[in-house]
Amino acid sequence: MSDLHALFLPCPRGLEAMLVAEMQQLGSATLQVGDAVASGVPARGTLDDVMRLNLHSHIASRVLLCLGRAPVTQADEVYRLALKLPWGRWFKPTQTLRVDVTAERIPAERAPSQKAVWPATARSGRDSPARSGGFLDSLHFTALRAKDGVCDHFRARGEERPSVDREQPDVRVQLHLTASDALLYLDTSGEALFKRGWRTEHGEAPLKENLAAGLLMLSGWTPDAVLFDPLCGAGTLAVEAAQMACNIAPGLGRSFGFERLQGFDRGVWIGLRQAASAARRAPPAAIIAADIDPRMVQLTRANAQRAGVEGAIRFQQADVMDAVPPVQLAPGQVGHIVTNPPYAERIEAKGREAEDFLPRLGDVLKQRFVGWHAALLLADLQADKALRLKPARRHVVYNGPIECRLFTFILVAGRPPRKAEAAPA
Ligand SMILES: C[S@@+](CC[C@H](N)C(=O)[O-])C[C@H]1O[C@@H](n2cnc3c(N)ncnc32)[C@H](O)[C@@H]1O
Repeated sequence: MSDLHALFLPCPRGLEAMLVAEMQQLGSATLQVGDAVASGVPARGTLDDVMRLNLHSHIASRVLLCLGRAPVTQADEVYRLALKLPWGRWFKPTQTLRVDVTAERIPAERAPSQKAVWPATARSGRDSPARSGGFLDSLHFTALRAKDGVCDHFRARGEERPSVDREQPDVRVQLHLTASDALLYLDTSGEALFKRGWRTEHGEAPLKENLAAGLLMLSGWTPDAVLFDPLCGAGTLAVEAAQMACNIAPGLGRSFGFERLQGFDRGVWIGLRQAASAARRAPPAAIIAADIDPRMVQLTRANAQRAGVEGAIRFQQADVMDAVPPVQLAPGQVGHIVTNPPYAERIEAKGREAEDFLPRLGDVLKQRFVGWHAALLLADLQADKALRLKPARRHVVYNGPIECRLFTFILVAGRPPRKAEAAPA
């Protein structure tokens, strides 16, 4: 299939540049990667590219295929757009359907001058719903009109109307509303891509798998370097790192929406999966996951087992305040700590020094991990001050709706701790 289709790959905010780089590294001669926008990357590509992206992207949340776009000011115009699009090319009316809606946020001060402004009554996916103002159709109602348009498209051809199944639909359609336009996409992923299939249970405040993968990439860790997560929770960072280190495609353990659509070449798909399976290798460097809570260590092990990487990770139950480098680095080798410490509004620090958690964690890093690089995801945007460490970079990333910073530190031998910096007990 060599036709090029307009695609859009949503991703967690802050990871757009990483997604662009990942798409370019796929090495497809047909994939044209566009300029990133907030929360995603547009592209043009073939249906083979769609399969490759679904199978190999660590960072995308979905691969959406755009079927149509039109300026709209009311829900009936969305209906008319949906009515005329060629749905019959992609699926049969006997297949079940689900329509989701997302809308762009419109700054409050701009809202009154916009032609169409979508009230905040429903959301799913790429962005928050826009603010209300002047236009009375709700997002839910607009999504319903889109669904009616799809169904009436089949009826106008003398066929039956597809039925809706919100739980396990065969086909997912996504309506996206900008300030002025409606876009209708076929969701070729089905379940969101961060659902890799290996995390059936999770701990407190788990990271989404695609956010964890993006943090690993932003941290500067590469799959041939040592990785240590001393606050591993359900092990999302360690398992994602182990899959990258073992060259396991993130989509190998799951199915995709496009497998139920027409037009995708099953032979090509089998070939892509076989090539991905054959690319598996032994991990080149140690990956260590630790947590103070033995249940979390057990959970990390179970997740790693389901992901096929149990043998690539060393598991430890330990208080981070007692942490020492878990491996002796060879001369010239860099070890990476990438972690997501507990932060106040989501989850509490534990252990005997939980009171002064960040200052003490900062001491542990600078006193015992000289020669290592550390990357810490924190919702406190000033957390570097509490850690008393000077960051090399502060990356803005969003953990769902929570604005965070990924602080990266290069831990070098240097000045002794300041007076205020208490030595570890
Ligand atoms: C925000 S969660 C990590 C979530 C993880 N990134 C995931 O995706 O599942 C923080 C973890 O730190 C652990 N923790 C809290 N205090 C600790 C300590 N002193 N030493 C080690 N682990 C600790 C908690 O048990 C929790 O699992």
